[in-house]
Amino acid sequence: MAKKYIPSFLCLFVFLANFVPHLADDAALPTIFILGDSTADVGTNSFIPDSKARADFPHNGIDFPNARPTGRFSNGFNSADFLAKLLGFNRSPPPYLFLVNQTTGHHKLLHRGVNFASGGSGLLDTTGSKLNVVSLSAQINQLASLSNNLSNVISQASTEATVTNAFFFISVGSNDIFEYFKTNSTIPKEQFIDNLMSAYTNHIEALYNLGARKFGIISVAPLGCCPAQRLVQKLLTGKDGCFGAMNDIALAFHSALDTLLYNISYQLPEIKYSLGNAFKMTIDVINNPHSKFQNVDTACCGTGTFNAQGPCNATAELCPDRKKYLFWDLFHPTQKATHLAAETLFFGPPIYVSPINFYQLVNNN
Ligand SMILES: *[C@@H]1O[C@H](CO)[C@@H](O)[C@H](O)[C@H]1NC(C)=O
Ligand SMILES: *[C@@H]1O[C@H](CO)[C@@H](O)[C@H](O)[C@H]1NC(C)=O
Ligand SMILES: *[C@@H]1O[C@H](CO)[C@@H](O)[C@H](O)[C@H]1NC(C)=O
Ligand SMILES: *[C@@H]1O[C@H](CO)[C@@H](O)[C@H](O)[C@H]1NC(C)=O
Ligand SMILES: *[C@@H]1O[C@H](CO)[C@@H](O)[C@H](O)[C@H]1NC(C)=O
Repeated sequence: MAKKYIPSFLCLFVFLANFVPHLADDAALPTIFILGDSTADVGTNSFIPDSKARADFPHNGIDFPNARPTGRFSNGFNSADFLAKLLGFNRSPPPYLFLVNQTTGHHKLLHRGVNFASGGSGLLDTTGSKLNVVSLSAQINQLASLSNNLSNVISQASTEATVTNAFFFISVGSNDIFEYFKTNSTIPKEQFIDNLMSAYTNHIEALYNLGARKFGIISVAPLGCCPAQRLVQKLLTGKDGCFGAMNDIALAFHSALDTLLYNISYQLPEIKYSLGNAFKMTIDVINNPHSKFQNVDTACCGTGTFNAQGPCNATAELCPDRKKYLFWDLFHPTQKATHLAAETLFFGPPIYVSPINFYQLVNNN
């Protein structure tokens, strides 16, 4: 597998929803902290010169303002941006690695929030470790360092209040599952899911200890249906379709996470959470013959079978109408798909987001 190939990531999640009342109260925009992988990365890895999971080159960003590649694994905005927009911002807050090198005005920039997400990372520190990305543990350490510094600028009490009132959005887990398959792991499936949940518990507790109380969490999409895995399925069996064994794990991941969050909300006082079912949101779109997408199996940008034999880059094939495609590249959803997903997370019913949706989470004090 070639370098620059971006082995692991995400296949996304999607939506429904035909409504979009924005939150109107500008005076009270919440602070947002975003953690996770390429589904939420807005350019973190572009600040890591030797990172092998980057997207700061065309055709990425072709639908972004000024057709600019920003490091997002998308033709335009991603889920972090659309959630931020629904909260009243123009887009996601900037990457932590951009903010730390700003010489002044840290605390002002910080007031909006920070995006720590790094493409290729996972719940396990080993995931993505060969790609030079920022693991979730390291992202949490970055937040700790930031919060520590911030309390020297504003008071410790205001720092704690900022973190406690902030909205934490976390999208992670897919890369752990991709690596489980890529390495032909012999760990039994149940044990593997337990390992991921135990890591997730540690991460949530670490964030809780830093003051975090409101968590908007998203599970993993049916990863076996992304173009990269459809290609694997085709090569292995000669048949079209999703890679079922991987989808089974993705589904098990969601239900284990659902239980974990339910449990943890009794153990950690004052925690509030909302869990988006990325699996169901996406599979419903894929299986719906009246889907808003004409194409749910091939990447818009890439090369070869399903446009999944090569990465999206300047010389890859590019589909003419991005709005017709669920997938942007071999792993990631299009801007349109993430937009719909964000609306579902925000306003969707309990079958897609529970026990409350993101709107209720943010507005419910
Ligand atoms: C931040 O600036 C320092 C010193 O100029 C540099 O060494 C470092 O690579 C920069 N970090 C990033 C993420 O750009
Ligand atoms: C925290 O402060 C130290 C020392 O001033 C600085 O080196 C570091 O970059 C700061 N970190 C953040 C996250 O602001
Ligand atoms: C995993 O198994 C496949 C199929 O048997 C093989 O082609 C591949 O090289 C193996 N990968 C690793 C990392 O062992
Ligand atoms: C949730 O709590 C129940 C009862 O304490 C326990 O049996 C179960 O193992 C816990 N599950 C998880 C995922 O933490
Ligand atoms: C795009 O990726 C392919 C690998 O599939 C590579 O051969 C080609 O040189 C890359 N193009 C650019 C512009 O990097």
